[in-house]
Amino acid sequence: MAIKYNENNRIFKLDTDNSTYLIGITPEGYVGHVYYGKRLESDAAYYLLRTDEPPFTPSVNKREKSAFLDFFPMELSCGGIGDYRESCLNIRNDAGSMGCEFFFESYSVMPGKPKLKGLPSSFGSADEVSTLEITCIDKILGLKVVLSYSVFEREDVITRNVRLENIGDNLLKIEKIYSACLDMDNEDFEVITLHGSWARERHIQRHPVYLGKQNVSSNKGESGHQEHPFMALVTPETTQTAGSVYAMNFVYSGNFIGQVEQTQFGMVRMVMGINQDEFSWNLKAKESFQAPEVVMTYSGEGLSKMTHSYHDFYRRHMIRSPYKDKKRPILINNWEATYFDFNTEKLLDIAREAKKDGIEMLVMDDGWFGERNSDDCSLGDWVVNEKKITGGLRHLVDEVNKIGLKFGIWFEPEMISPNSDLYRQHPDWAIHIEGREATQSRQQYVLDLSNPKVVDYAYGCVSKILHSANIEYVKWDMNRQLSDLGSTYLDSESQQELFHRYVLGVYEMQERLVTEFPDLLLENCSGGGARFDPGMLYYSPQIWCSDDTDAVERLEIQEGTALIYPLSTIGAHVSVCPNHAVGRNTSFETRGHVALAGTFGYELDITKLPEAERALISEQTAMYHKYNDLVREGDYYRIASYSQNKQYDCYMVVTKDKSQALMTYVQVRGVPNSKSKKVKLMGLDPKASYMLEGTDAMYSGELLMKGGFLVKGMWGDATSRLYHFKKK
Ligand code: GLA
Repeated sequence: MAIKYNENNRIFKLDTDNSTYLIGITPEGYVGHVYYGKRLESDAAYYLLRTDEPPFTPSVNKREKSAFLDFFPMELSCGGIGDYRESCLNIRNDAGSMGCEFFFESYSVMPGKPKLKGLPSSFGSADEVSTLEITCIDKILGLKVVLSYSVFEREDVITRNVRLENIGDNLLKIEKIYSACLDMDNEDFEVITLHGSWARERHIQRHPVYLGKQNVSSNKGESGHQEHPFMALVTPETTQTAGSVYAMNFVYSGNFIGQVEQTQFGMVRMVMGINQDEFSWNLKAKESFQAPEVVMTYSGEGLSKMTHSYHDFYRRHMIRSPYKDKKRPILINNWEATYFDFNTEKLLDIAREAKKDGIEMLVMDDGWFGERNSDDCSLGDWVVNEKKITGGLRHLVDEVNKIGLKFGIWFEPEMISPNSDLYRQHPDWAIHIEGREATQSRQQYVLDLSNPKVVDYAYGCVSKILHSANIEYVKWDMNRQLSDLGSTYLDSESQQELFHRYVLGVYEMQERLVTEFPDLLLENCSGGGARFDPGMLYYSPQIWCSDDTDAVERLEIQEGTALIYPLSTIGAHVSVCPNHAVGRNTSFETRGHVALAGTFGYELDITKLPEAERALISEQTAMYHKYNDLVREGDYYRIASYSQNKQYDCYMVVTKDKSQALMTYVQVRGVPNSKSKKVKLMGLDPKASYMLEGTDAMYSGELLMKGGFLVKGMWGDATSRLYHFKKK
């Protein structure tokens, strides 16, 4: 049993294979956090709550209740009553006052895991996961608070979410609801977060946890390029293979916050949830509100273990696509090849040439609809532009299929251009504040997806096109953030629900899409990788990682992304040089090696490629087929990081049975007079011997890991090699 309750000491014990999480209930009914860390046998841990130290719990000493509340490790903190650390739950009553205090009422344990209504959420069979629901009540408010914990033993993951139910008669306003809170004694923690910008997503940042608050957040309506719904606290000695890691990742694609706060008494509070900025929710009598889930994992063996737990978890328990355990077709996308300047003939030329080299799918990107010959119009008018797509879409798709390629298409269904028929008919469908000219970004507005009519329209357009031809892949893009938050659909009391309702609208559309077209391969995208989050993985098995396809920039972007997300989810393509985002030249070979650590595909005009590069494509597509099972399903290890050493990058993927390993080594900067580089491999079987492919050299697994492998010096910048080891 992964979940036990000991009535005698009022402790809940949640066990995964390698971790334990303990929750304690005080005599008053406060739900306290007792322990999270290495797996324990004993649950006699109530003393860790320190309830016998002054200031005592309020049943013993009411006089100092505020001092108690401001120190006690809460499973979910409440605002307004004297816990001055970050609150997770702010509720305003109908008289206008903010305050909440809930107490334990009952609990239930169930095999499996219930779905979260309207939200993406992890899943598993009764053998794989069990769920604890702790029900608490604030009698004064008439509020039921359900704290939910699902324990995935094998992956060392515990997911958390919170559900509120108004069981009284009065309106309650939820002004803040976070999904997880972790109060712990500080262990000189450092915090790891991911940061970036357009074309520079998810760079890793690590620094000490200072007194006060440090957070990552988004207020843009999507998870965003700049910060990421992920946070890990690590002990200072933490490396890839050692140290304690406490991580949280939010299954949500809108505004979020992840925060750590070091408090006056040497404790830390780590929280994650929907960003409070411009959020509130009217919880009417008998209604409930479901907050999204947080995926928590603890590793006592450094960052690699955290990464493996997340990768396995997302592969097994978040991604639903029929493609999740399958090779994805190698695609060629025409965006960087043609931008808006293409037509049927051009696309067919690309398809014919692509077929010769083993490419399996043509993706028609932005520009096929309305009058869209640049990015200044037509979003919302999802009607094929037959001036470009002569003969119509069906004809194009049929021809592409005849050549022997699948066909995929780009959409940006959440948007509306001011210059579009849709906007001329329904200006009220754009998010805007009445009387104020809304801010444009990429000359577009965002559709008000809180309005079910708008959701129906936008989804209907996608569905109609997909029914019109044999389309097997969709790239679902979202190219601007939300601003000017105003909805003509919502009443004035509900305007602050718009951000969240927007995200629910996106989820509804994507749910409809994967239900109506169950075999479709969906790839999410947002100006590159601005909506690369676990919420999106519930709908699409892969996400376009960044508009920056430069091999060197990608090393850092993919390193940060792969810290949490499986390589099978990372959209990665080979493009031309000088690279369109940074102007850098790298070898075609290196571009291929770097893209192999992702979904793999091309984003270039194959009809114009220099012969020497063209000749390499068939080798690369063969390499993809050879290694993709390993890359998609194996364990990923970070050996060396260019972002730290400024010279080279090295990572590897090892099959679960340790019979094969693929190591990628990229020398980013050539250095004079250098010797071979000794790199210590990871994840191999120490007792086994491995043969290096293409040679007859045999190596001991133990030596490769402890002594290292010698990577011969290379000539030039951004040169790379792949090494494939096979157990003998
Ligand atoms: C975004 C995407 C690109 C491309 C363009 C089209 O920037 O990230 O890959 O699809 O939109 O406008």
